[in-house]
Amino acid sequence: RTAEPASIVIFGASGDLTQRKLLPALFRLLGQGLLPGSTRIVGVARRDWDDAAFRSEVHDSLEKADALEDTRWEAFSDRVSFVGGDFREDATYTRLAGHLADLAKTDDRPARTLFYLAVPPPVYGTITSGLARAGLGGEPADGWTRVVVEKPFGHDRESARELDAALHAVYDEDQVFRIDHYLGKETVQNILVFRLENGIFEPLWNQRHVDHVQITVAESLGVGSRAGFYEGVGVLRDMLQNHLMQLLTLVAMDPPARFSAKDVRDEKVKVLRSIRPLDPERDVVRGRYGRGVVDGKEVPGYLEEEGVADDSDTETFLAARFHVDSWRWSGTPFYLRSGKRLPRRATEIAIVFKRPPVLLFGDRAGHARPNVLTLRIQPREGISLSIGSKLPGQDMRVEDVRMDFLYATSFGGETPEAYERLLLDAVLGESTLFAREDEVDLAWGLVDPVAAAWKASGDAPETYAAGTWGPACADELIARDGRAWVRL
Ligand code: BG6
Repeated sequence: RTAEPASIVIFGASGDLTQRKLLPALFRLLGQGLLPGSTRIVGVARRDWDDAAFRSEVHDSLEKADALEDTRWEAFSDRVSFVGGDFREDATYTRLAGHLADLAKTDDRPARTLFYLAVPPPVYGTITSGLARAGLGGEPADGWTRVVVEKPFGHDRESARELDAALHAVYDEDQVFRIDHYLGKETVQNILVFRLENGIFEPLWNQRHVDHVQITVAESLGVGSRAGFYEGVGVLRDMLQNHLMQLLTLVAMDPPARFSAKDVRDEKVKVLRSIRPLDPERDVVRGRYGRGVVDGKEVPGYLEEEGVADDSDTETFLAARFHVDSWRWSGTPFYLRSGKRLPRRATEIAIVFKRPPVLLFGDRAGHARPNVLTLRIQPREGISLSIGSKLPGQDMRVEDVRMDFLYATSFGGETPEAYERLLLDAVLGESTLFAREDEVDLAWGLVDPVAAAWKASGDAPETYAAGTWGPACADELIARDGRAWVRL
């Protein structure tokens, strides 16, 4: 997978995402030769920097991210340049267009450009229209132009549609790459491989054999210094609308006809279309962390975090029950939950199978719990299957044992970061791991009524102590169905 030489232009070059994720990913991709040595990286930001000043910022970012390798720095920094300017001014785009033309000429290659918009969504339209006016819209005759945008894509269905309209005024859908970095994680890519490369699981992957599915994305971190972004966004828009629903669609989708971007995304869309509208009263609960203890340290509650309004109603925890009304899943609920300041960081998918129709060994044996197949997305990446087994001895006693696959043991430690995979895919023009317009639209269609109901209720989210597994209402949500959250 070696890409063609291109210019990668990062809008928001002075921002947090660029420093923490994009630059380290580009540095590694170039270092490994996955991006050709003649790749160009152009930072754009409203800063008074020249190339040298930007390079020194890049150097610092790489150092901070622990990604710098001294022997590779010089070759990398030669590829880096900077165009300063206000995103609202045409002059910025004119200078950028001139700079990109010069680079293509120097490198003697067609105009191939990836614009990475590492800026808040309201700025997308400003940038794409600026690019269009400078002749950087559309597709060049002999090269290509692609645009990468971050999540959350808008804050509701309407704003997402406005963003789509702004992007499509300048670029076609197949030039637009919407990031959901969960799709770039190795373990997430493995969901489909695990399901579809192994003949033994797919026959069981349906409502006849699966009692229910649980998807948990737990974080021990709080909102930290991100309240400016997080307030008014909450877990609903930050995690459920994108990361969790992407995981749900990958677990629930039918096998595609081919492993192509169109076929895979068509199947994911089919799942989203089969999801029953959520009943905000019965299917979703929310919480907000109060003071508590995480990792042995006392931490403040959400309302005490810097930048959070006293009357904030932003949720930091959410649990939801989804019904996928398809032949494959009708009657098998999907329970999703995510929260900040939970006891530890863990993303897991638990496929909980139905019990055998007859429990032959009777109560005396002590029943094994139902079989659970756990896909551990992070950390301790791996897959395990719990199975009931006879406890050795004269008695007939049954206990749970686990069959375990651990990435670290089987494949060693080093796996590429999600952003490395996704940046490389974008340069290759491979869009399978990016969210398509209709996916994002359907996902907003499902979460919008929940956001509206919460807003209308005027209620505050239920408090849970930091360092616990969320508010009591989350346990009640699943207990009403006679089930319980699996222990992580
Ligand atoms: C981001 C969210 O998309 O994902 C953050 O904005 C969240 O709030 C993060 O912390 C979690 O990502 P990961 O890769 O650490 O699970």
